[in-house]
Amino acid sequence: MVLGDGIAAEALASELTTLRARRAILVSEPGAWAAVGERIGPGLRERGWAVESVFLPEGEEAKRLTVIEHAARQLAALRVERSEPLVAIGGGALGDAAGFLAATYLRGVPFVQVPTTLVAQIDSSIGGKTGVDLPEGKNLLGAFHQPSAVVIDVALLQTLPERQLRAALGEAVKMAALGDERLFELLEASGPAIARGAPEAFESGSVAEVVERAGWAKVEVVVADEHESDAAGGRIALNLGHSLGHAVEAAAGYGDLLHGEAVAYGLRAACRIGVEAGVTPESRAARITALLDRVDLATELLPYSLDAVLAHLASDKKHAAGHLRWVLPTADGAIVRNDVAPEVVERAAAGLLAAGRPA
Ligand SMILES: NC(=O)c1ccc[n+]([C@@H]2O[C@H](COP(=O)([O-])OP(=O)(O)OC[C@H]3O[C@@H](n4cnc5c(N)ncnc54)[C@H](O)[C@@H]3O)[C@@H](O)[C@H]2O)c1
Ligand SMILES: [Zn+2]
Repeated sequence: MVLGDGIAAEALASELTTLRARRAILVSEPGAWAAVGERIGPGLRERGWAVESVFLPEGEEAKRLTVIEHAARQLAALRVERSEPLVAIGGGALGDAAGFLAATYLRGVPFVQVPTTLVAQIDSSIGGKTGVDLPEGKNLLGAFHQPSAVVIDVALLQTLPERQLRAALGEAVKMAALGDERLFELLEASGPAIARGAPEAFESGSVAEVVERAGWAKVEVVVADEHESDAAGGRIALNLGHSLGHAVEAAAGYGDLLHGEAVAYGLRAACRIGVEAGVTPESRAARITALLDRVDLATELLPYSLDAVLAHLASDKKHAAGHLRWVLPTADGAIVRNDVAPEVVERAAAGLLAAGRPA
């Protein structure tokens, strides 16, 4: 993983050299490319690289099997060989789809991630999960395929809309809550400026430091449990805030709440459940929720019904023998519990909703 400010073209060229690439085969989408293409394409050509481009659709539309087939046929037309790396340039959706393309084309070709959103830089580009959606649900088809390199250039984030920056901080707060004290302090100090996309957040190096800390925190978890096989903890800790997070995201209908916004609601609920279950000290829960307040995430009650949220929770895929496995904050990290009483969960869910508890 290479991280810097304004380094994309140079660092990518250097990774391609290391990978002995013959040419730069870029996989991107129109939104990301319009925002960052100028910072990458010309720099590669100046350094002597022949550039080929394959475009997928923007956003979640990229994560469809028909799109992968179409893109794979373009790779075949370009006579892309087994050893030739693909370069994924875009946010999490593009990275998931391009990574899946790389995982499956010729049974797997190397790929390099150049994440262009804050979500992608701190979360989705790290860990090797790739995949596409089905009409039946998100990420139902996928593969583990580790990128050969991740080039993180925080300058690419300058064009991101404020709402996306703020939402991504939901995942950063989660990583801090999992036990990174320095990340916690950084977010407490500069989270509000980062969430606004304030120029000083970039100039002071705050964005770079948050990206670096949050990214490494994820790397550490993933390295310890690459294929999510550790039932007692490991990678499942990354699901902190995600059980109720996914449930409110689904109740909203995907697209209404951004994922990171939903995770922020889930974190508030996990704090409440944790306190009631006796695993989260009140002071820890207060610190996590105060940080969410500071970055203005999950500060308004949601307009969905408790029944809808609980129904989505019941269809969550992380059931172990019928019990939902709750990742709950502790004094300095998280633990997994599968014995949380349904009433406790219901109260926490109701606490997120304007309607509260049904009469
Ligand atoms: N693989 C993983 O471990 C993992 C983890 C978290 C999320 N994800 C996936 O990531 C996806 C969400 O990622 P996302 O939030 O980055 O969404 P996204 O990739 O859809 O990007 C959001 C929007 O930002 C635009 N954009 C991209 N870069 C830009 C830039 N630099 N400036 C301005 N606009 C830019 C895109 O065109 C798009 O419209 C979901 O599909 C989710 O499932 C995967
Ligand atoms: Zn998430």
